Amino acid sequence: MTQAPIARFTRLRHATFTSPDPERLLDYYRGVIGLGLVARDGDRIFLASESEQLSLVIEPGDALLSSIAFEISPEVPIEALGAALKQADLRPELRSDPLPGVSRLLSFSDPEGTRFELIQGWTPTPAQERIGGLAVAKLGHVALRTPDPKAASEFYANVMGLRVSDWIEDRFVFMRSGFEHHTLNFALAPGRGLHHFAFELRGPEHMHRACDHLARHKLPVLWGPVRHGPGHNTAIYHRNPEGHLVELFHDLDRIVDEELGYFEPRPWHRDRPQRPKVWVGQPRDVWGMPPSPECTEFAR
Ligand SMILES: [Fe+2]
Repeated sequence: MTQAPIARFTRLRHATFTSPDPERLLDYYRGVIGLGLVARDGDRIFLASESEQLSLVIEPGDALLSSIAFEISPEVPIEALGAALKQADLRPELRSDPLPGVSRLLSFSDPEGTRFELIQGWTPTPAQERIGGLAVAKLGHVALRTPDPKAASEFYANVMGLRVSDWIEDRFVFMRSGFEHHTLNFALAPGRGLHHFAFELRGPEHMHRACDHLARHKLPVLWGPVRHGPGHNTAIYHRNPEGHLVELFHDLDRIVDEELGYFEPRPWHRDRPQRPKVWVGQPRDVWGMPPSPECTEFAR
């Protein structure tokens, strides 16, 4: 008999980065990505999307991803969840009023040491300024490096309730926490760390505008526009001022009816119906050129 997951991640909420130059990063998120300043708390900077959801936290430090926050069901008794995470040796920590718009947060470290935050309930956190830049829809997914994508996928499926959407051979796994094709990915690499992260755009016109906007800010598009195979989203990639690879995407596959086990049919699907699968061989992408050599994260 398989055991029920300890927790069940639902929506991806926000990411926290440490930065040696938080003000420079703030300028980038305001002027390019289009998030707005909600508040500052000492050295910490909180940014929200135009949907008034906390999307990004910046803290002083090395240029690193420090945690990823997911929402969990309001039905979950959070103290019992904390006890279960403790029993699993995942070093949970429960905090009250930790962030703007978040009243309770339970954090833990996964087996490879990445910090995750579980949030229950939230209130809107409108930016205290007019949102400019691209005004992205939301933080869409985070991809992590790992020496063992299989072990990571098993941990997140069996312990955190995510579902596997697709594999690229045995080196890249896409996992979903809701109906969208992926919110958390794992890529084969020598050590744990950030691979890339992605913001959702609202449509093809927004994607077109994003290309022009990046050019105006002298941020070269390193890959794309491309329509991927796995997930079938269109995407462009650039590096933020700290060198992290940032994807802008739209049109991601969705499993609207989880019981049916296939993605909503789309004209560009080559499998009908399109079910989660292992992608082997080329070409994977539906259209678009391969990544430029500067996209070292996608070197294989
Ligand atoms: Fe991505």
